[in-house]
This record gives sequence, structure tokens and C-alpha cells, in this order.
Amino acid sequence: MDYFIVIALSYVIGSIPNGLIVGKFFKGVDIRQFGSKNIGATNVYRVLGPWPAFWVLVTDIAKGIAGVYIGKAVLGTPPAALLGGIAAIAGHNWSLFLGFKGGRGVATALGVIAVLMPKVTAIVFIVWAVIVALTRYVSLGSIVAAAIAPPLIWLFGERVEYLYFGLVAAIFVIVRHRPNIERLLKGQELKIKAGSASPE
Ligand code: G3P
Repeated sequence: MDYFIVIALSYVIGSIPNGLIVGKFFKGVDIRQFGSKNIGATNVYRVLGPWPAFWVLVTDIAKGIAGVYIGKAVLGTPPAALLGGIAAIAGHNWSLFLGFKGGRGVATALGVIAVLMPKVTAIVFIVWAVIVALTRYVSLGSIVAAAIAPPLIWLFGERVEYLYFGLVAAIFVIVRHRPNIERLLKGQELKIKAGSASPE
């Protein structure tokens, strides 16, 4: 029963579509109609600029952190807490409130690993930032970051449950980047620039 509570509660919290809420609140815009049509901070930055994107980033990261703490509070152990984290990412990617559609899961996964594996998080973040700075493709940075997280978890000698989590989270993130991968292969991916997909 405790496992069900952690998974259900974290999934519902993860399902909260912050990008959609912030877009409507700041500009009355449905973020799903513009830019990449994704509800994440990257697309909010592209369409609505830095401040709305900042709020989406913070609240999406918070969903991952919440999942971990719900897991810890109810189940007590760090490995079990990962269940809360993975449920929060699943909620973000396949939201209960969006007909099981949703975002890419990057910021929510970041929240989970930041709490549990700070060293891995730091390296993943640096690699992500360098790729984005060099290419201006946030999606490419996110895909590479997701792909290198499991080997890094293993290299840092983290517990095996964390490695399983890393593998599942990487699959969740990469699977949801399918439209980005298709655009990258065609040379049609959107670069990151504030206001580059303005609704006006
Ligand atoms: O975190 C999402 C990012 O990797 C891609 O966002 O809007 O370019 O699909 P977007």
C-alpha cells in the first residue's frame, strides 16, 4: 500500500503541467501551440522569454525533488525514494492532466538526481551546458546528458538501485525526445533563442 501511495502521489504531482500553467498565467498562451510545442522550460524560453521559463524550470525541478522526498517520507530508504522520483518523471512525460501527453522529463529528472547524486548531477550538467553553448541545441544536450548519466552513476560506484533508476530515467527522457531526434537528423531542429518562436 505504501508503494502505491508513493507512486500515485508522485505521479500526480509530476503530472502538473507547469509550462502550460505558466504560459496561460503570464501571457494567456497555450505553449503547446508554439515553437517545439513542448511544455518544458526550453520552449517557454523560446516562446515567452526568460522569466516564464525560469518559473517552469524551477517548478519542474521541484516535482522531481518532491517525488524523492515523498518516497523517503513514506518508505524511508533512498532506493525506495527513487520510485517517487521515477513516478514524478513519468507524470511529467505522460501527464494525467494532458491525456497522457507531456514534456521531455529533463528538469524533473534533474531534480531527482540533484538530491540523490550531486556529483553525477554536476558532471551531467556541465556536459549539457557545454553542448548547448556550442550547438544551441538544448535537445542534443539533454539527450547526451541522459545517455551519459547511467555510465557515470556506475563509475561513481553508486548503489545498483540508482543505476537502474538512471537507466529507466534515461529511456524516459530519450524516448520523449523522438521529435527532436527526427528534427536533428533532418537539420530542422530549433535552436535556443528567447522570443524566437513568439506567439505575437
Ligand atoms: O528539455 C527539453 C529539451 O531537451 C528540448 O526542448 O522545446 O526544444 O523540444 P524543445
